[in-house]
Amino acid sequence: MRVGVAGLGRMGSAIAARLMDVGHEVTVWNRTPDKLEPLAAAGAKVAATPAQLAGTVEAIVTILTNRDAIAAVYEHPAGLLAGDIKGKLVIEMSTVQPETEIALAEKVRAKGATFVECPVGGTVGPAREGKLLGVAGGTAEDFSRARPLLAQMCRRVEHVGPVGAGSSMKLALNLPLMIYYQALGESYVLCRHLGLDPKWLMEFLTDTSGAPNVLKTRGPRIAAALAGGDAGPPAFDIESIRKDLATMLAEGRARGGDLPLVATTLAIYEEAIRDGWGKRDGANIPAYWPSRVPAAGRKG
Ligand SMILES: NC(=O)c1ccc[n+]([C@@H]2O[C@H](COP(=O)([O-])OP(=O)(O)OC[C@H]3O[C@@H](n4cnc5c(N)ncnc54)[C@H](OP(=O)(O)O)[C@@H]3O)[C@@H](O)[C@H]2O)c1
Repeated sequence: MRVGVAGLGRMGSAIAARLMDVGHEVTVWNRTPDKLEPLAAAGAKVAATPAQLAGTVEAIVTILTNRDAIAAVYEHPAGLLAGDIKGKLVIEMSTVQPETEIALAEKVRAKGATFVECPVGGTVGPAREGKLLGVAGGTAEDFSRARPLLAQMCRRVEHVGPVGAGSSMKLALNLPLMIYYQALGESYVLCRHLGLDPKWLMEFLTDTSGAPNVLKTRGPRIAAALAGGDAGPPAFDIESIRKDLATMLAEGRARGGDLPLVATTLAIYEEAIRDGWGKRDGANIPAYWPSRVPAAGRKG
């Protein structure tokens, strides 16, 4: 299939590479041209604008920072909506509020194209290997059309309702993780004085009732951060997590409720960003709060 990927951030680049691996003819576009080079070198075609990309493919995939990025890539005079998208399949995978996807779906459908949203769980590694967790929103018919392509990007795809439902589910699944990173930092404040090896601690906590799945995959990286190092190259950085928490808070308010744990956690991530941690991977957050709490407290 001829597939276009508009937006080659960490996730877009990994997804485009995956789609090439499984045999699609991939065309790419990105606002910042230097991110095009690795994919072009691997054989991807390069479009000069999103509109041009739209005209040469059968399906379009986007995964962009936020609502403003979506507006820029779709609605710019040379954006995707200005291209020939009639009859084509559009899959939008960014993490945003449901209302953003609902509004976009109307505009895409008005041009005669099929629209499915499918935000994803999992980070760059799973994206590269086609092992994301997809939560799709769309009509049953539109989802059926998108499913074969989504199945090549995801180890599991669930159709959770009409457009907007995928975004609701995505915000819901990320919320406990983001609070957990801070909870783990606070937990470490209570046991740091024991002087236990952080690698052992992560392995041990993974075996306890309070542990989420993320410890199985990110435990060693978190241990490196707790030991005073870094959790490694940023796949999902602290600024991106701040964006997700702010989006959750806005969505909670739109639904008439406060999310007090999210609000408190967001304030802490904002402090971490002010302290220069914003470009570091989220797996560093468990080390941030201990770094703010003096190690020399009560003895024993
Ligand atoms: N990273 C993860 O682990 C992960 C996992 C699941 C979901 N997500 C979600 O996936 C989305 C992308 O995340 P990412 O980590 O890949 O982000 P990223 O590396 O920062 O990439 C963001 C992409 O959006 C583009 N963009 C931003 N503003 C734009 C604008 N005004 N006009 C045109 N393009 C614009 C960027 O273009 P430039 O290159 O020109 O800046 C880039 O292609 C986010 O919604 C995120 O929450 C991320």
